Amino acid sequence: MCGIIGYIGKRDALPILIEGLKRLEYRGYDSAGVGILDDKKLSVFRSPGKISSLEKALGDSTIAGTIGIAHTRWATHGPPEERNAHPHADCGARLAVVHNGIIENYAELRASLESRGHTFRSQTDTEVLPHLIEEEQKKKSCDLSTAVRSVLRQIRGTYGIAVVSSEAPDKLIVARLGSPIVLGIGTDEFFVASDASAVLGHTHKVIFLDDGEMAELSRDGYRIFSLDNSKIDKSPEELDWSAEDMQKNGQPHFMLKEMLEQPEVIRNSLRGRLDVENGLAVLGGLRDVAERLRHIDRLIIVACGSAYYAGQVGEYMIEENAGIPVEVELGSEFRYRQPIITENTAVLAVSQSGETADTLAAIREAKMKGALTLGIVNAVGSTIARETDAGVYNHAGPEIGVASTKAFVSQLTVFALLTLFLGRQRKMSMSYGRKLALELQRIPDLVQSILANRQALEPIAASISGAKGMFYLGRKYNAPIAFEGALKLKEVSYIHAEGYASGEMKHGPIALVDSSFPSVVIAPVDSVFEKNKSNIQELKARGGKIFSLTDEDSGDLRSMSDGIIAVPKTVEMLQPILDIVPLQLLAYQVALTKGFDPDKPRNLAKSVTVE
Ligand code: F6R
Repeated sequence: MCGIIGYIGKRDALPILIEGLKRLEYRGYDSAGVGILDDKKLSVFRSPGKISSLEKALGDSTIAGTIGIAHTRWATHGPPEERNAHPHADCGARLAVVHNGIIENYAELRASLESRGHTFRSQTDTEVLPHLIEEEQKKKSCDLSTAVRSVLRQIRGTYGIAVVSSEAPDKLIVARLGSPIVLGIGTDEFFVASDASAVLGHTHKVIFLDDGEMAELSRDGYRIFSLDNSKIDKSPEELDWSAEDMQKNGQPHFMLKEMLEQPEVIRNSLRGRLDVENGLAVLGGLRDVAERLRHIDRLIIVACGSAYYAGQVGEYMIEENAGIPVEVELGSEFRYRQPIITENTAVLAVSQSGETADTLAAIREAKMKGALTLGIVNAVGSTIARETDAGVYNHAGPEIGVASTKAFVSQLTVFALLTLFLGRQRKMSMSYGRKLALELQRIPDLVQSILANRQALEPIAASISGAKGMFYLGRKYNAPIAFEGALKLKEVSYIHAEGYASGEMKHGPIALVDSSFPSVVIAPVDSVFEKNKSNIQELKARGGKIFSLTDEDSGDLRSMSDGIIAVPKTVEMLQPILDIVPLQLLAYQVALTKGFDPDKPRNLAKSVTVE
């Protein structure tokens, strides 16, 4: 995701900013830029691609200046091009802003600014900020921090921002709401960053801003205040973390860090997309194809690996709630068959990276045959995002852990939104839509409660870690969760785990079961609960150990099981979003118990761009 670094002091800002950007590289980004003030002269350099491309763009130019801001951008609004990279400037190129987060009401703010003569140069939501600050200063001839305060009260959404202006050449202003900002306190110099790892090379003395707080930094000191300008007293704290620790937010592995981010990831996938009152999903990326979608009579989902399993959950969601026939195909198969596609077929690619070769080839084949092509993609500006006719971004942030966790959960969340969108175009009532929307809003807190209880999984992990092989079983919405749970265990612990639909297990695989072959059965109290219980009895009769993933109403299932993986309850369609979380945690814990590094699974690559 995006990263911010800023400096004010007595040294040349440029090398400090470039080094800070490099420390933020691990977060994933697709363009970068710097803005430096030398007295009253503001110089801005930006470039798509890596920081090395920015360094090339800077060439041999020696940019003096002891105050500046810089940014790595992970595209959300507009593709990764120079014009969309930060910093963004006002009309007169006098002030520069870098921003992390999303401004939800940017479209209306932009329209209003354009009607007052402001010229926009990018497609970003961020660019409204410098223009609004310019407007504010013009109207009230106020100082920079007053103007920024007043602008922040006009915007809806999330931000971590840093601002410099040639009219206030000794000031650096930052603010935070929902997107982190940390101040680094040096001797006669100050740093700002979105992530303390960017400043740890210079100082370990830091102040983390809280939501709704701003800071004004000069060479002599800093002042922290609220949006209503009340002074806030905060003392610096001393961090003893290394830069590597900071990149993982103090967690031992990226996999754990990303699993812990899931409540926020789900909030980000939902942000601005639920109209609870009318029971609707607001999916801006589908606006242009909404009428065509009303008339599709078949949806084919193409994907690979975890994204394929997310697609299978999506199939159940959409068929049951929107009444559209859905098929899910492996990208690698779709491209080599003769798929039947009519003009009312839509083909939807699901891909975290947006670069998976098999999924991309499938979508190209579908396009060639005249289908409407759609994407559920996490990486903005990626090839699949660019080549599909329309789509929905996950907004999960870059996923560094090789075994997909937060991206998978965000794919399920987007499928729930898509189901609401397509369902309300068809048979779904407003009251059911409202119920789903309200329930979706509860999901982040429910996921948080599972994460908080993760220690309870340790004894089960210890028991599984000696197994030679095992089953993951589930029915209906939870069959694909069984497949994904098994994949997670295989990937990081190298235990041979097979995911099966519970009912299929007796058609052959049950031959494997004995007392050394345990099963995780996903059995929340839902429409197939009793059927799952029968399958559990079949396994027990053959000496198999049972670990049941279930909710508090599961009654005698508890006494049939050798261990319980507890999950809270939600509506059946959304239950998979909760059920996968303890299975990810379990796989992680088993990997640790067996002494494997879950961030470096053998033989795997993060983005599979070969056939
Ligand atoms: C498993 C995993 C893979 C990916 C698959 C598709 O943990 O990460 O199975 O889901 O390679 O990748 P994307 O979503 O980038 O198309």
